[in-house]
Parts: sequence; C-alpha cells; structure tokens
Amino acid sequence: MSATLDDRKELERLRREIARYNVSYHVLDRPEISDAEYDSLFLRLLELERLHPEWVTPDSPTQRVGATPAAEFAAVEHRVPMLSLANAYSEEELRDYDRRMCALLGEHSIVYVSEPKLDGLSVELVYEKGSLVRGSTRGDGAVGEDVTANLRTIRSIPLRLAEADPVPELLEVRGEVYIEKTAFRAVNERRARDGQPLFANPRNLAAGSLRQLDPRVTAERALRMACYDVGTAVGLTLSTQQELLATLPRFGLPVNPLFAVCASPDDVTAFYRRMQKERDALPYETDGVVVKIDRFDLRRASGTVSRSPRWAIAGKFPAERAVTRLRDIVISVGRTGILTPVASLDPVRVHGVEISSATLHNEDDIRAKDLRVGDRVVVQRAGDVIPQIVASLPELRDGSESVFAMPTRCPACGSRVVRLEAEAAWRCFNTTCPARIKQSIGHFASKGALDIDGLGGKLIDQLVERGLVARLGDLFRLDRDTFAALDRMGPKSADNLVQAIHRARTVPLARLLYGLGIPEVGATTADLLAQHAGSLRRLSQTQREELVTIPTIGPRTAETVVDYFANEENQKTLADLLAVGLTIESPTLLDSRSQGLLAGKRFVFTGTLATLTRDEAAARVQQLGAVVAGSVSQKTDYVVAGSDPGAKADMARSLGIPLLTESKFLTLLGESHND
Ligand code: IVH
Repeated sequence: MSATLDDRKELERLRREIARYNVSYHVLDRPEISDAEYDSLFLRLLELERLHPEWVTPDSPTQRVGATPAAEFAAVEHRVPMLSLANAYSEEELRDYDRRMCALLGEHSIVYVSEPKLDGLSVELVYEKGSLVRGSTRGDGAVGEDVTANLRTIRSIPLRLAEADPVPELLEVRGEVYIEKTAFRAVNERRARDGQPLFANPRNLAAGSLRQLDPRVTAERALRMACYDVGTAVGLTLSTQQELLATLPRFGLPVNPLFAVCASPDDVTAFYRRMQKERDALPYETDGVVVKIDRFDLRRASGTVSRSPRWAIAGKFPAERAVTRLRDIVISVGRTGILTPVASLDPVRVHGVEISSATLHNEDDIRAKDLRVGDRVVVQRAGDVIPQIVASLPELRDGSESVFAMPTRCPACGSRVVRLEAEAAWRCFNTTCPARIKQSIGHFASKGALDIDGLGGKLIDQLVERGLVARLGDLFRLDRDTFAALDRMGPKSADNLVQAIHRARTVPLARLLYGLGIPEVGATTADLLAQHAGSLRRLSQTQREELVTIPTIGPRTAETVVDYFANEENQKTLADLLAVGLTIESPTLLDSRSQGLLAGKRFVFTGTLATLTRDEAAARVQQLGAVVAGSVSQKTDYVVAGSDPGAKADMARSLGIPLLTESKFLTLLGESHND
C-alpha cells in the first residue's frame, strides 16, 4: 500500500520535472540537464506507468507523439550522415572548445571559420553531372524526406550548376533553408487577417513550407537557401571551409557572404560578440554562430562524439525567450475599427528589454494558442521583432486561470461589435467611435501622410475628448487660441502647430490617400493609385475591374478602395476636407518637381532614425521614385544608417556602397531640418 503511494508520488514528481525540462529544452532552448539524465527520468516514468497502467493519462509526457517523418514523403538515405552540433553558451565555453581541439589535434593554434547560425531547416541537395536530382530534409540524420519538388521552387537553388568550372560528377551540398524576417512578418500578417493560425517563428514557417505536399504553397513563401557544407563530392576537391565558401558560388550555389576567418580564440569570441550585437539588423533570424575548423584534414582527424562532429561547435546567444504571467487581455481599437487583443504581462526582461505587453492579433490566435488569463506564457522578442507570446504552458496551470472572451461591445464607444464572416477580426462599425477617430487623426497627421509636426497622441486625445475634432477636416478649423488652451501647450507651440497645419493644407494626392487610412492602402499602394488615377475625383469613380489592372494591386485592395469611396461617411469626410480648403497636388505636378531625383535608386535602411520611423523614411524615398530593399547587395545605391547600425552598414562598407547619416539622408530628401 505504502509502496503504491510512493510510486504515485514519484510518478507525479517525474511528470512535473520532465514537463519543466521539456520547456527548457524545446521552448527556451536552454537544456538544464544532460540528454542522458533526461532519458533516465523518462525511462523511470515509463517503468512506473507500465507497473500502473491505470495511472496513464493523456497529458503524461510519455503520451506525446514524436515528429515522425511524414509518411507522404519518400525516405532518402544520406550517403554521409547529417549530424547536429554541440553547443557552447558563452565566450568561455568557446575558448574551452579551442583548448580541447588544440590538445586533441596536437596543434599550437587552429584557424576557424565562423558563420552566423541560420535559424531554419537543414537540407541536402544532390547534383549529378550538374543537375539537381534530389533534395531532402535532415530527418533523423541518417534518413530524411524527399522534398525535391518543394526545393525546386526556391529560386536561389540552381536546378543546374553553373558551367563556370568543370562540373563535378557528384556533389552533395548541405545548407539551411530559411525565410527573411520581413517575409515572415508578411506571411503572418496575412494569416492573421484570414483567421489562420500563425507561425511561431521563421524556422517553423520554413519547415512547414518545405514539409507540405503542395509545391505551389512552398513557392509562395519566399524561402531562401544558404549552403555551408559538402557531403560527398566526386570530381571536386576542397580542402578548407574558406575554399568551400569561395567555390560554391562559382557553381551558382548561394552561400552567406557574412563569415569571419578566425586565427585565434580572440577572433572567435569577437565574432560571437559582434553577431550578438548585430543580429537585430540582419535580415534573417540567427540564434548563434557556428565555429568550424577551417582545414578539412584536421576535421577528419578530430572524429565524432554522440552524433556531433568535433570539428564544429554552435556558440548560442543568450535566451531571447522568457516565461512570465499573462495578467490580462485588454482590447485596443484601431482606426479601421478592428478590435485587437493585447496581452498585459508581468514585466520581464528579454533580450535586454523589458516587456510588459504583446499583441495577440485576434481571437483565433488566442484560441489556437489556448491562452488563458493567469497562464504562464513563453514570450519572445527577437530583436526588432515585436514582442510576442509563443505559447502557453498548460502544464503549469493551477486552476485559477480563466478563459478569455472577446467583448460584444466596443470598449471605447459601447456600440455592438461584429465579426465579419470572411475575417478573423471583430470590428466596431461606429465611424464616430472616439477610439477610431483618435487613431485616424494620428495616422492622417503622421510623417508619411500630411506630416503635421507636433500633433501627437496626447494632443489628439484632448482634441477628440473635448469635442473639438470629430472629423479630419475639423483639424483645419482649429485656431491658435484653441490650441493654447489645451494642457501642456504654450503660446509658442500653439503657433508652431497652427503653422504646421497650414503647411499641410497643400498635400500631394498620394500622401492624402495614404493618410485617409483606406484598409490595405499603405504608402506604396497609395502612390500607385495616385499615379494611375491622377486625381481624387477620378479615383473615386474608378471601378474595381480597372483598379486590378494596376500592377501589384490585387482584387482585395481594389475592393476596399471601391468600398471606401462608396461609403457615405467617407464621402462626407472628403467633402468636408475640400470645404475647409485642402489643396490636392496631382501626381504630375509632384513629378515635375522631383523628376528623377531618386528614380530607380535602391535604398536599404539600418539602425534607428531619430526623426522618422523606418516606414516613414521608406515612404518618403518611394514617393521620389526609389525602391526600398531589405538587404544590401551589389545593386544597392544607398545605405541609410541610423543609430546602432548593424551588419548592413558593414556590408555597405565592404561593398563600397555610400553610407548616409540621417542628416545627409534628410538633405538628400530636400528637407530642411534644424538640430
Ligand atoms: S554546419 C554537423 N553551418 O545548425 C553539422 N550548420 O545544430 C554541420 N546551421 O543541422 C552544420 N547555420 O541546420 C552549419 N552556418 C551553419 C549553420 C548550420 C545553421 C544548423 C544546421 C545544423 C544545425 C546544427
């Protein structure tokens, strides 16, 4: 009897411990115990459950189904096993690694090549006589899945090797398939709108895109590949990693141009430190560096320990995830009336920044993640990526948590909210809802739109709450005395504001369109619409069928534009703007003023700008005909570096591309600025 009681206690303790280690291993990426210790706990739990089958419950860690290879993909055996890497978590551990290798190989010092560790999915490509014949996932290292059809849709993967060199008889290349942060965000934004579950991180998206059965879906996902290793090669001899990285591009195989040759442990730790600092500025997600012995003869001599080769080690960065409590879910109302749930969190430091709130996108997102108020949740902040909740930890619930329900009424104006069938979002349809008005005015006054300097959120709140502004046009009816009477306003700032509003009375059509906040119409689309229609009147009469003929404008955007102008409230707003004397510059007028100024130039932004957000800066240069890119390449014309610029600035320097400071950039835009 008492033996049974002890068993029961032990079983419960084991389940709790295993659940915790699972979180630290799989979620936080910080194993607390060795694999062997974990296995022994797990085996003991299995043994107890075999003794007492009546105690097996579906939530026992033993009942989790492993990620077995999908049955639909054919199995591919790797000629040379695809191993994984041992981890180091600090500069000291990287130095230890170097000491161990020197001792093992009897070398005085070792040259390493260090590369960013890309956070994606590793794959192997097999080229026979220069043709891509097979591509597979790593799988369990020995056997992977045949995902050739999906890999063929990735544009950076050559289907034939370039003929620049004698093409090897056989070449197996390994590398990482990944997705850039901006493309990742775009996919999730679209999914949030469509009410589909979101991808937790770029790695999951890359893996999900590759391991699904319809290659057309893979093709839509903007995946990339960077090669970093070679398996079997016949007809090609490589003897160092440096040579490998120089040779693969000659065959048209993509490699990451960012790496460092490290002749000493100091060089290794310097690169580790530098990447940690610059990771936010990189276009892709990276969770560490991979330090590799450069010489292949030394690699062969070093051998393998428990599925990891000794010739390389992953230097992992400190956690960018943490566990905290979800205190509450509050609703914020946007300018289009969409109700966005926002998580209010017990403050926690992640990646050097304190996080106390995170967006939850929509109701379905909350449901998909099974978030309950009071839950312990895993939060993530990957650099410039907005903080997000990755998962809840149901195993840590104590029963006091409560399920969240979306409100049935708008928290700002009290009118009933509606969830449209095709959308995931609940909306407040009251166009006079104060929350909506505040947000629309803020957007209307923002830099990319009418650019009314000094009209910030706190002022707008007062203007709306005191009933001074109910429509956009009302802004132009305000005088100096009205402003001067508001909190925190002096006569000087009131004067400045009146002048700023006066200047905004004349506005290019594209900026006005952007400022109106038509759903789906960002700065770039506003520009296209303005160029196409030429005037507000003409655009307001343009049919959906004509709008979809504009390149990059899809049926969805065309629909919202037509709907916007058909709406009676919007018509009143526009009529009112014209009544107060708004002058709209047609795009041809704008063109003659700035013709060719930045036409066709390619810009890349890095670091933080003091006077503009990146979106605003991008909108500005786009209005002058330039193109904005996410990463630096030979084709880049200018890199604009704000404070704390990242790797993109280094890249620009090494490619000899002009680097602009913020003030040079503003001068280029023809702006006067006083600082
Ligand atoms: S070299 C023995 N280089 O990290 C494996 N791997 O934990 C040698 N990875 O499975 C791999 N970036 O998916 C290498 N620059 C890089 C990498 C990289 C990401 C991944 C790869 C591998 C995992 C090892």
